[in-house]
Formats: sequence, C-alpha cells, structure tokens
Amino acid sequence: MPSPERTCVRFARVHRLHAAYRAWSSYRGAGLRTRAFLAGRLAALPLRPLARELGELHGRVLSVGSGHGLNERWLAELNPAVTVDGSDVNAERVAMAALSEDRQPRVRLRLLDVRDLDEREAFDAAVAIDVLHHVPSGDHELIARALAQALNPGGIVLVKDIAHTPRWQHAFNSLHDRLLSAEPETFSREPEQMAALFEGAGFRTERCYRVAPLSPYPHFILRLRRAPPSA
Ligand SMILES: C[S@@+](CC[C@H](N)C(=O)[O-])C[C@H]1O[C@@H](n2cnc3c(N)ncnc32)[C@H](O)[C@@H]1O
Repeated sequence: MPSPERTCVRFARVHRLHAAYRAWSSYRGAGLRTRAFLAGRLAALPLRPLARELGELHGRVLSVGSGHGLNERWLAELNPAVTVDGSDVNAERVAMAALSEDRQPRVRLRLLDVRDLDEREAFDAAVAIDVLHHVPSGDHELIARALAQALNPGGIVLVKDIAHTPRWQHAFNSLHDRLLSAEPETFSREPEQMAALFEGAGFRTERCYRVAPLSPYPHFILRLRRAPPSA
C-alpha cells in the first residue's frame, strides 16, 4: 500500500495538473495559435514549486505582467481563497482574456504598464511571473516600491523570474524571448540581487531559491513580505 506521504504527493500533482488544464481550457474558442502558445507556456513553467507558493496566498491578489491571465486563472483554480486583479501592457492579450473572463469570474485583467501602478494598500498579495526581466533594469526599483505601496503591511510578493546564470540557461531563455516576443534584450538579475532590490523597497525575504535545475530555463522564486511600518 502506498505511504500517506506518497498519496499526498500524488493528490497534489493531480490537483495542480487538473487546475492547469481547467485554466488552459477556459480559453476554448481563442484560436489554435493562442491555445498552443498557452499550452507551451504551461510546459515551460516550474509548475510544482509555483503551485506550492500560489497555494499559500490569500485574499486580493494583484498580478503584474499577467499576459493572457493563464497563470492567474490557474491560481484561482488552485486556490479558492483568492481573487486576482491582473494587468498587462499588451492590449491584445488583455482583450483576448476579456472574451472568456466569465469562465473564471475571480480573475479580472486590465490594461496597465506596471511602471504606472499607483495603488495604495489595496492588496493582500502580488505576483510577478516572468515580467521583471522584460522591463529595463533601471525601472525594477520603481516597480518594487510601487508593489510595496499596493500591499497591506504584511502582504506577500511572489516573484518568479529568470536568473542571469548559469550562462547556457540564460542564453536559452534569451533566445526563447527573442523568438517569441522579438525583444532584442532582457534584464534578468541573480535571485539574491533581486531579493536585495526588494529589501531596499521595504520587503523582508522569506524564501529565495532556484527551481527546476534540469529545465533549460534558469527559473527562480522569491517570496517577500512587506515589512510592517516601524513603530
Ligand atoms: C513572458 S510574458 C509572461 C506573462 C505571464 N505572466 C506568464 O507567466 O505567462 C511577459 C509579460 O509581461 C508583459 N509586460 C512587459 N513589460 C510590461 C510592463 N512594463 N507593464 C506590464 N506588463 C508588461 C508583456 O506584455 C507580457 O505579457
């Protein structure tokens, strides 16, 4: 008989894959190209550690650079304790998401450049999945400060991004980005550098780790907490 631990691991796997399938299939009718792109997106992500982190969030979640909102719908499928306000600068992606948003009413997307974010203590958590390396490095600090301002004291930011090393993985990701988004340059940082930048904006690092070492992408995850105001 399988041990209780093995049964739990299996259950978690089925839950995260089923949630991912439900999120992906909510785009039915979006056209083959978009659906293939979104399936590829899921295949490239480190789903297991991300699902674990997303499962710990609660309340109102802000997502920046949410693209079509696939991860946000996955988050809502995984975690009944959240509603998600997504945002992206790409009008086509936001419009595409709007066509099927009734299939996941706990997720809404709006058109917004993350550098214009100006919310005050409205959110319990924020996520930034593979967006910061698409924004020039000189704007990272401004974004970290805007996220700190958008969160309630004690709120959590989850960053999933791409490290600068190992070099071959970074080169693979740069090629991927060049082919898919025609961007000549990306702006990745090492996980510890990104954590230090958020600490300078008023966060405390709770977790900072690389994931999926066998993937061709240098994925890392940061979990940061907005420090309460000093007394
Ligand atoms: C690699 S995609 C990731 C999308 C989504 N988070 C995901 O993981 O599937 C990067 C996204 O960041 C968005 N983006 C880039 N610069 C941005 C900015 N300044 N403000 C908001 N979104 C931005 C792009 O439009 C794109 O949808």
